[in-house]
Amino acid sequence: MKYRTLGKTGLSVSVIGMGTWQLGGEWGKNFTQPEVNAMFARAQALGINLIDTAECYGDHLSESLIGTAVKGQREKWIIATKFGHRFTGFMKRSDERDLPDVREQLDASLRALRTDYIDIYQYHSVRDNEFDNPSLWDFLKKAKKAGKIRHIGNSISGGLDLRYQTERSTDADVEVLQVVYNRLERKPETECFDEAMKQELGVLARVPLASGYLSGKYKPGAKFTGNDYRTTQDPAKVEEKLKEVERIQKEEVPAGVDMAEWALAWCLKHPAVTAVIPGCKSVEQVEKNARAAELVA
Ligand SMILES: NC(=O)c1ccc[n+]([C@@H]2O[C@H](COP(=O)([O-])OP(=O)(O)OC[C@H]3O[C@@H](n4cnc5c(N)ncnc54)[C@H](OP(=O)(O)O)[C@@H]3O)[C@@H](O)[C@H]2O)c1
Repeated sequence: MKYRTLGKTGLSVSVIGMGTWQLGGEWGKNFTQPEVNAMFARAQALGINLIDTAECYGDHLSESLIGTAVKGQREKWIIATKFGHRFTGFMKRSDERDLPDVREQLDASLRALRTDYIDIYQYHSVRDNEFDNPSLWDFLKKAKKAGKIRHIGNSISGGLDLRYQTERSTDADVEVLQVVYNRLERKPETECFDEAMKQELGVLARVPLASGYLSGKYKPGAKFTGNDYRTTQDPAKVEEKLKEVERIQKEEVPAGVDMAEWALAWCLKHPAVTAVIPGCKSVEQVEKNARAAELVA
């Protein structure tokens, strides 16, 4: 594994982290605790030390599975979670960003994770006017002082212009940004990365496999079924992506290199990016994703 310093936080994070939306049950599979334990034990053995989860991957379900899996090993992990929603069903959430809601969510996340501190507490896809909330900034600062939070992060919605919230990061005590970044989605290169470097922010690249499409295993015409988030995506746009992936696979991925590993290493080439957080569904995927670190300079 390789490690990098996460901006001003000073935290040394593995360049490959664990994305865990999958554990909430919205990716065509429900997880048992023994399966999750095995994934995290293998990740730890491979040197991965960074976990990204959220309040609404199931109703604190992903956090709860992680809390049990890392019990007794808490200090070996850097855990990033988020606030701003309540899970209400498959691909359904209510927006909850008012102070009493966030206070409740923080305590619920600590309980689910079976910990007394969160390393990185992230805004979860909030709107610009919801981000500009001095009483929320003050609450988060106090939670930091109380030791419940070590650092504040901001996972900016992919649907927004990234500039507004990126520019205000330091004023809001935000030290880490999380953005959608992959070979098919390069918006952060123009809207966020220069400013992130100027402010010395850590950057986590989420959706680094473009929801799995950049693994190269899905061909044009692929269909998703059941409780898989990808059934909710526009089929025409998915088809367009799969055609582009096919072209990239032929023209850009070196012969003999696994495309998923190549796609993760591709994100890590940009100097602003600290780590990638691919979502994982099995021990095998954890192993393959960890192997991508070998392709990183
Ligand atoms: N708003 C936010 O803050 C936000 C939004 C989205 C995601 N995130 C975070 O970012 C993480 C990553 O994003 P994501 O999970 O949406 O997308 P992703 O990482 O681009 O894709 C994950 C999917 O790719 C497939 N995969 C993973 N490793 C693979 C491998 N080595 N070979 C082949 N296929 C592989 C798996 O699905 P299949 O095997 O079923 O294809 C997996 O579910 C999430 O887990 C979450 O922690 C945050």
